[in-house]
Amino acid sequence: MNFSDIINRLKLNRDLPDGELKFLISSDEANEQLALAADEIRRANYGEDVYIRGLIEFSNYCKNNCYYCGIRCGNTKAVRYRLTKADIMECCAQGYSLGFRTFVLQGGEDPHFTDEVMCDIIAEIRQNYPDCAITLSVGERSRESYQAYFNAGANRFLLRHETATDDHYRRLHPKNLSLQNRKQCLFDLKEIGFQVGSGFMVGSPYQSDDNLLADLRFLQTLQPDMIGIGPFIRHEDTPFATFDSGDLYKTLRLVSILRLMFPYALIPSTTALGTIHPQGREMGLRAGANVVMPNLSPKRVRELYMLYDNKISTDEEAAESVDKLKKKVVSAGYRVVTARGDVKKEN
Ligand code: 5AD
Repeated sequence: MNFSDIINRLKLNRDLPDGELKFLISSDEANEQLALAADEIRRANYGEDVYIRGLIEFSNYCKNNCYYCGIRCGNTKAVRYRLTKADIMECCAQGYSLGFRTFVLQGGEDPHFTDEVMCDIIAEIRQNYPDCAITLSVGERSRESYQAYFNAGANRFLLRHETATDDHYRRLHPKNLSLQNRKQCLFDLKEIGFQVGSGFMVGSPYQSDDNLLADLRFLQTLQPDMIGIGPFIRHEDTPFATFDSGDLYKTLRLVSILRLMFPYALIPSTTALGTIHPQGREMGLRAGANVVMPNLSPKRVRELYMLYDNKISTDEEAAESVDKLKKKVVSAGYRVVTARGDVKKEN
Protein backbone atom coordinates (compact mmCIF):
# COMPACT_ATOMS: atom_id res chain seq x y z
CA MET A 1 0.00 0.00 0.00
CA ASN A 2 1.34 3.45 -0.90
CA PHE A 3 0.62 6.03 1.77
CA SER A 4 2.39 8.96 0.10
CA ASP A 5 -0.69 10.57 -1.33
CA ILE A 6 -2.67 10.48 1.91
CA ILE A 7 0.27 11.66 4.01
CA ASN A 8 1.04 14.47 1.57
CA ARG A 9 -2.53 15.68 1.78
CA LEU A 10 -2.40 15.55 5.57
CA LYS A 11 0.84 17.56 5.46
CA LEU A 12 -0.69 20.12 3.14
CA ASN A 13 -4.17 20.49 4.61
CA ARG A 14 -3.46 19.50 8.23
CA ASP A 15 -6.58 17.43 7.91
CA LEU A 16 -8.11 14.43 6.20
CA PRO A 17 -11.59 12.96 5.95
CA ASP A 18 -12.51 10.60 8.81
CA GLY A 19 -11.97 7.43 6.76
CA GLU A 20 -8.43 8.33 5.73
CA LEU A 21 -7.42 9.49 9.19
CA LYS A 22 -8.67 6.24 10.65
CA PHE A 23 -6.80 4.36 7.96
CA LEU A 24 -3.55 6.04 9.03
CA ILE A 25 -4.29 5.49 12.73
CA SER A 26 -4.67 1.77 12.11
CA SER A 27 -1.89 1.19 9.55
CA ASP A 28 1.34 -0.16 11.01
CA GLU A 29 3.05 0.13 7.65
CA ALA A 30 2.51 3.90 7.61
CA ASN A 31 4.91 4.60 10.48
CA GLU A 32 8.09 5.31 8.60
CA GLN A 33 6.60 7.64 6.02
CA LEU A 34 4.53 9.40 8.66
CA ALA A 35 7.61 9.96 10.83
CA LEU A 36 9.58 11.39 7.89
CA ALA A 37 6.79 13.81 7.02
CA ALA A 38 6.32 14.76 10.68
CA ASP A 39 10.06 15.37 11.08
CA GLU A 40 10.08 17.65 8.04
CA ILE A 41 7.22 19.73 9.48
CA ARG A 42 8.77 19.82 12.91
CA ARG A 43 12.10 21.03 11.49
CA ALA A 44 10.32 23.68 9.40
CA ASN A 45 8.71 25.10 12.55
CA TYR A 46 11.13 24.37 15.38
CA GLY A 47 14.35 23.34 13.65
CA GLU A 48 16.35 20.83 15.67
CA ASP A 49 15.30 22.35 18.96
CA VAL A 50 14.11 20.18 21.82
CA TYR A 51 12.76 22.05 24.82
CA ILE A 52 13.26 20.74 28.32
CA ARG A 53 10.80 21.15 31.20
CA GLY A 54 11.62 20.45 34.80
CA LEU A 55 8.88 18.24 36.19
CA ILE A 56 8.13 18.62 39.90
CA GLU A 57 5.72 15.91 41.05
CA PHE A 58 4.72 17.68 44.24
CA SER A 59 1.95 15.43 45.59
CA ASN A 60 0.67 11.93 44.91
CA TYR A 61 -2.44 12.38 47.05
CA CYS A 62 -5.51 12.34 44.83
CA LYS A 63 -9.21 12.57 45.61
CA ASN A 64 -10.11 10.92 42.32
CA ASN A 65 -10.39 7.23 41.62
CA CYS A 66 -9.67 6.91 37.88
CA TYR A 67 -9.55 3.23 37.00
CA TYR A 68 -6.24 3.40 35.12
CA CYS A 69 -4.14 5.45 37.50
CA GLY A 70 -1.77 4.18 40.18
CA ILE A 71 -2.26 7.15 42.49
CA ARG A 72 -6.08 6.82 42.52
CA CYS A 73 -7.50 7.34 46.01
CA GLY A 74 -8.69 3.73 46.14
CA ASN A 75 -5.13 2.41 45.93
CA THR A 76 -4.40 1.84 49.59
CA LYS A 77 -0.98 0.41 48.76
CA ALA A 78 0.32 3.70 47.40
CA VAL A 79 2.70 5.40 49.81
CA ARG A 80 1.59 9.02 49.83
CA TYR A 81 3.74 12.15 50.01
CA ARG A 82 3.47 15.84 49.47
CA LEU A 83 6.28 18.31 49.04
CA THR A 84 6.44 21.49 51.11
CA LYS A 85 6.79 24.90 49.58
CA ALA A 86 10.43 24.85 50.67
CA ASP A 87 10.94 21.50 48.89
CA ILE A 88 9.40 22.90 45.72
CA MET A 89 11.53 26.05 45.84
CA GLU A 90 14.58 23.85 46.30
CA CYS A 91 13.62 21.89 43.16
CA CYS A 92 13.27 25.13 41.21
CA ALA A 93 16.65 26.41 42.41
CA GLN A 94 18.32 23.20 41.37
CA GLY A 95 16.45 23.19 38.07
CA TYR A 96 17.34 26.77 37.28
CA SER A 97 21.03 26.14 37.81
CA LEU A 98 20.80 23.13 35.49
CA GLY A 99 19.35 25.34 32.75
CA PHE A 100 15.63 24.72 33.08
CA ARG A 101 13.44 27.68 32.23
CA THR A 102 10.08 25.94 32.60
CA PHE A 103 8.87 24.39 35.83
CA VAL A 104 5.96 21.99 35.66
CA LEU A 105 4.11 21.55 38.94
CA GLN A 106 2.25 18.27 38.61
CA GLY A 107 0.24 16.52 41.28
CA GLY A 108 -2.83 14.49 42.03
CA GLU A 109 -5.99 16.41 42.91
CA ASP A 110 -4.84 16.99 46.47
CA PRO A 111 -7.24 19.09 48.60
CA HIS A 112 -4.33 20.15 50.81
CA PHE A 113 -3.22 22.43 47.99
CA THR A 114 -5.99 25.00 48.29
CA ASP A 115 -6.02 28.08 46.09
CA GLU A 116 -4.27 29.99 48.83
CA VAL A 117 -1.48 27.42 49.12
CA MET A 118 -1.14 27.14 45.32
CA CYS A 119 -1.07 30.89 44.76
CA ASP A 120 1.53 31.38 47.45
CA ILE A 121 3.82 28.85 45.76
CA ILE A 122 3.18 30.18 42.26
CA ALA A 123 3.80 33.78 43.32
CA GLU A 124 7.10 32.93 44.94
CA ILE A 125 8.34 31.02 41.89
CA ARG A 126 7.21 33.90 39.70
CA GLN A 127 9.06 36.41 41.87
CA ASN A 128 12.28 34.40 42.05
CA TYR A 129 12.31 33.36 38.38
CA PRO A 130 10.76 36.13 36.27
CA ASP A 131 12.32 34.64 33.12
CA CYS A 132 10.78 31.20 33.59
CA ALA A 133 7.47 29.70 32.54
CA ILE A 134 5.33 28.11 35.24
CA THR A 135 3.21 25.19 34.06
CA LEU A 136 0.52 23.64 36.25
CA SER A 137 -0.85 20.13 35.99
CA VAL A 138 -3.21 19.87 38.94
CA GLY A 139 -6.43 18.63 37.41
CA GLU A 140 -9.95 19.98 37.45
CA ARG A 141 -10.61 23.12 39.49
CA SER A 142 -13.10 25.96 39.25
CA ARG A 143 -12.68 28.74 36.75
CA GLU A 144 -12.08 31.13 39.66
CA SER A 145 -9.25 28.96 40.91
CA TYR A 146 -7.66 28.84 37.47
CA GLN A 147 -7.96 32.62 37.21
CA ALA A 148 -6.29 33.01 40.61
CA TYR A 149 -3.36 30.80 39.53
CA PHE A 150 -3.00 32.80 36.33
CA ASN A 151 -3.04 36.06 38.25
CA ALA A 152 -0.42 34.69 40.63
CA GLY A 153 1.91 34.15 37.68
CA ALA A 154 1.27 30.72 36.12
CA ASN A 155 1.50 30.66 32.31
CA ARG A 156 0.65 27.20 31.12
CA PHE A 157 -1.66 24.37 32.10
CA LEU A 158 -1.65 20.67 31.23
CA LEU A 159 -4.90 18.76 31.47
CA ARG A 160 -5.25 15.73 29.24
CA HIS A 161 -8.82 15.11 28.17
CA GLU A 162 -7.93 11.35 28.30
CA THR A 163 -10.66 10.41 25.79
CA ALA A 164 -13.11 12.59 23.90
CA THR A 165 -15.87 9.98 23.68
CA ASP A 166 -18.50 10.05 26.42
CA ASP A 167 -19.11 6.33 26.87
CA HIS A 168 -15.38 5.60 26.72
CA TYR A 169 -14.82 8.29 29.34
CA ARG A 170 -17.40 6.53 31.53
CA ARG A 171 -15.49 3.26 31.29
CA LEU A 172 -12.23 4.87 32.46
CA HIS A 173 -13.59 7.07 35.24
CA PRO A 174 -15.96 6.81 38.20
CA LYS A 175 -19.38 8.44 38.04
CA ASN A 176 -18.48 11.69 39.76
CA LEU A 177 -16.20 12.70 36.88
CA SER A 178 -17.50 13.87 33.53
CA LEU A 179 -16.00 14.52 30.13
CA GLN A 180 -18.16 17.60 29.88
CA ASN A 181 -16.56 19.16 32.94
CA ARG A 182 -13.10 18.27 31.76
CA LYS A 183 -13.70 19.94 28.41
CA GLN A 184 -15.17 22.97 30.16
CA CYS A 185 -12.00 23.26 32.24
CA LEU A 186 -9.90 23.25 29.08
CA PHE A 187 -11.94 25.97 27.42
CA ASP A 188 -11.93 28.03 30.64
CA LEU A 189 -8.15 27.75 30.86
CA LYS A 190 -7.81 28.92 27.28
CA GLU A 191 -10.10 31.88 27.76
CA ILE A 192 -8.20 32.93 30.87
CA GLY A 193 -5.05 33.10 28.75
CA PHE A 194 -3.07 30.01 29.68
CA GLN A 195 -1.09 28.16 27.05
CA VAL A 196 -3.08 24.95 27.25
CA GLY A 197 -2.02 21.35 26.83
CA SER A 198 -4.28 18.37 26.42
CA GLY A 199 -3.92 14.81 25.25
CA PHE A 200 -4.85 11.19 25.73
CA MET A 201 -3.56 7.70 26.35
CA VAL A 202 -3.10 5.32 23.42
CA GLY A 203 -4.40 1.81 23.97
CA SER A 204 -6.38 2.52 27.10
CA PRO A 205 -8.89 -0.25 27.93
CA TYR A 206 -11.91 -0.40 25.58
CA GLN A 207 -10.41 2.23 23.24
CA SER A 208 -11.34 1.92 19.56
CA ASP A 209 -9.87 3.70 16.54
CA ASP A 210 -13.11 5.68 16.40
CA ASN A 211 -12.28 6.92 19.90
CA LEU A 212 -8.82 8.00 18.72
CA LEU A 213 -10.36 9.76 15.75
CA ALA A 214 -12.68 11.60 18.16
CA ASP A 215 -9.61 12.60 20.19
CA LEU A 216 -8.04 14.17 17.11
CA ARG A 217 -11.30 15.95 16.24
CA PHE A 218 -11.63 17.28 19.77
CA LEU A 219 -8.09 18.64 19.65
CA GLN A 220 -8.95 20.40 16.39
CA THR A 221 -11.75 22.18 18.23
CA LEU A 222 -9.60 23.02 21.24
CA GLN A 223 -6.50 24.05 19.26
CA PRO A 224 -4.15 23.37 22.18
CA ASP A 225 -0.61 24.73 22.42
CA MET A 226 0.74 21.48 23.87
CA ILE A 227 -0.33 17.89 23.19
CA GLY A 228 0.82 15.04 25.40
CA ILE A 229 0.15 11.42 24.53
CA GLY A 230 1.59 8.17 25.73
CA PRO A 231 0.74 4.48 25.75
CA PHE A 232 -1.56 3.22 28.48
CA ILE A 233 0.49 1.09 30.90
CA ARG A 234 -1.23 -1.05 33.48
CA HIS A 235 -0.73 -0.56 37.20
CA GLU A 236 -0.99 -3.71 39.29
CA ASP A 237 -3.06 -2.10 42.05
CA THR A 238 -5.83 -0.71 39.83
CA PRO A 239 -8.99 -2.22 38.33
CA PHE A 240 -7.14 -2.30 34.99
CA ALA A 241 -4.30 -4.45 36.34
CA THR A 242 -4.81 -7.17 33.75
CA PHE A 243 -5.13 -5.05 30.61
CA ASP A 244 -2.40 -4.96 27.98
CA SER A 245 -0.30 -1.86 27.52
CA GLY A 246 -0.81 0.43 24.55
CA ASP A 247 1.20 -0.24 21.42
CA LEU A 248 4.53 1.57 20.99
CA TYR A 249 4.23 1.93 17.22
CA LYS A 250 0.65 3.09 17.30
CA THR A 251 1.63 5.75 19.84
CA LEU A 252 4.51 6.88 17.60
CA ARG A 253 2.17 6.98 14.61
CA LEU A 254 -0.20 9.21 16.54
CA VAL A 255 2.66 11.51 17.53
CA SER A 256 3.43 11.92 13.82
CA ILE A 257 -0.22 12.46 12.88
CA LEU A 258 -0.49 15.09 15.63
CA ARG A 259 2.63 16.86 14.36
CA LEU A 260 1.14 17.01 10.86
CA MET A 261 -2.25 18.22 12.11
CA PHE A 262 -0.77 20.68 14.63
CA PRO A 263 2.55 21.89 13.16
CA TYR A 264 3.08 24.45 15.91
CA ALA A 265 2.23 22.25 18.88
CA LEU A 266 4.68 21.50 21.65
CA ILE A 267 4.61 17.73 21.80
CA PRO A 268 6.51 15.91 24.54
CA SER A 269 8.18 12.57 24.07
CA THR A 270 6.63 11.24 27.24
CA THR A 271 7.89 9.16 30.15
CA ALA A 272 5.35 6.47 29.27
CA LEU A 273 6.99 6.12 25.83
CA GLY A 274 10.37 5.80 27.53
CA THR A 275 8.91 3.20 29.87
CA ILE A 276 7.60 0.78 27.25
CA HIS A 277 10.81 0.85 25.19
CA PRO A 278 14.41 1.67 26.15
CA GLN A 279 14.68 3.98 23.13
CA GLY A 280 11.09 5.18 23.34
CA ARG A 281 12.05 8.76 24.08
CA GLU A 282 14.32 9.02 21.02
CA MET A 283 11.74 7.31 18.86
CA GLY A 284 9.16 9.87 20.00
CA LEU A 285 11.45 12.72 19.00
CA ARG A 286 12.06 11.20 15.59
CA ALA A 287 8.31 10.77 15.15
CA GLY A 288 7.73 14.49 15.62
CA ALA A 289 7.90 15.30 19.34
CA ASN A 290 9.95 18.33 20.43
CA VAL A 291 9.79 18.45 24.23
CA VAL A 292 11.19 16.31 27.04
CA MET A 293 10.28 16.61 30.69
CA PRO A 294 12.94 15.23 33.02
CA ASN A 295 12.17 14.78 36.69
CA LEU A 296 13.19 17.52 39.11
CA SER A 297 11.44 16.01 42.13
CA PRO A 298 13.59 15.12 45.15
CA LYS A 299 15.09 11.66 44.70
CA ARG A 300 13.34 10.28 47.79
CA VAL A 301 9.86 10.68 46.27
CA ARG A 302 10.54 9.75 42.65
CA GLU A 303 9.62 6.11 43.07
CA LEU A 304 6.36 7.07 44.75
CA TYR A 305 4.78 8.95 41.86
CA MET A 306 3.81 5.65 40.25
CA LEU A 307 1.05 6.32 37.75
CA TYR A 308 1.73 2.93 36.15
CA ASP A 309 3.99 -0.08 36.67
CA ASN A 310 7.74 0.32 36.14
CA LYS A 311 7.56 4.06 35.47
CA ILE A 312 11.17 4.87 34.71
CA SER A 313 13.29 7.05 36.92
CA THR A 314 16.59 6.28 35.28
CA ASP A 315 19.45 8.71 34.89
CA GLU A 316 18.19 10.19 31.64
CA GLU A 317 14.87 10.89 33.31
CA ALA A 318 16.54 12.84 36.07
CA ALA A 319 17.05 16.53 35.64
CA GLU A 320 20.47 16.35 37.31
CA SER A 321 21.62 14.12 34.46
CA VAL A 322 20.73 16.69 31.86
CA ASP A 323 24.10 16.16 30.17
CA LYS A 324 23.25 12.53 29.48
CA LEU A 325 19.88 13.59 28.17
CA LYS A 326 21.54 16.13 25.88
CA LYS A 327 23.70 13.39 24.39
CA LYS A 328 20.67 11.19 23.85
CA VAL A 329 18.85 13.99 22.08
CA VAL A 330 21.89 14.64 19.87
CA SER A 331 22.07 10.95 19.02
CA ALA A 332 18.45 11.17 17.89
CA GLY A 333 19.41 14.06 15.55
CA TYR A 334 18.30 17.09 17.57
CA ARG A 335 19.63 19.43 20.28
CA VAL A 336 18.43 20.54 23.68
CA VAL A 337 17.91 24.27 24.05
CA THR A 338 17.39 26.09 27.34
CA ALA A 339 14.96 28.70 26.00
CA ARG A 340 11.57 29.00 27.72
CA GLY A 341 10.11 27.43 24.61
CA ASP A 342 6.76 29.11 24.25
CA VAL A 343 4.46 27.96 21.50
CA LYS A 344 5.08 29.39 18.03
CA LYS A 345 1.56 29.73 16.86
CA GLU A 346 0.14 31.65 13.98
CA ASN A 347 -3.53 31.44 14.92
N1 5AD B 1 -0.76 4.56 31.84
C1 5AD B 1 -0.36 5.61 31.09
N2 5AD B 1 -0.61 6.89 31.40
C2 5AD B 1 -1.28 7.13 32.53
N3 5AD B 1 -1.68 8.28 33.09
C3 5AD B 1 -2.32 7.99 34.25
N4 5AD B 1 -2.34 6.67 34.45
C4 5AD B 1 -1.71 6.10 33.39
C5 5AD B 1 -1.43 4.78 33.00
N5 5AD B 1 -1.81 3.74 33.74
C6 5AD B 1 -1.51 9.57 32.43
C7 5AD B 1 -2.85 10.28 32.27
C8 5AD B 1 -2.65 11.55 33.05
C9 5AD B 1 -1.16 11.71 33.05
C10 5AD B 1 -0.63 12.57 34.16
O1 5AD B 1 -0.68 10.41 33.19
O2 5AD B 1 -3.10 10.53 30.90
O3 5AD B 1 -3.29 12.66 32.45
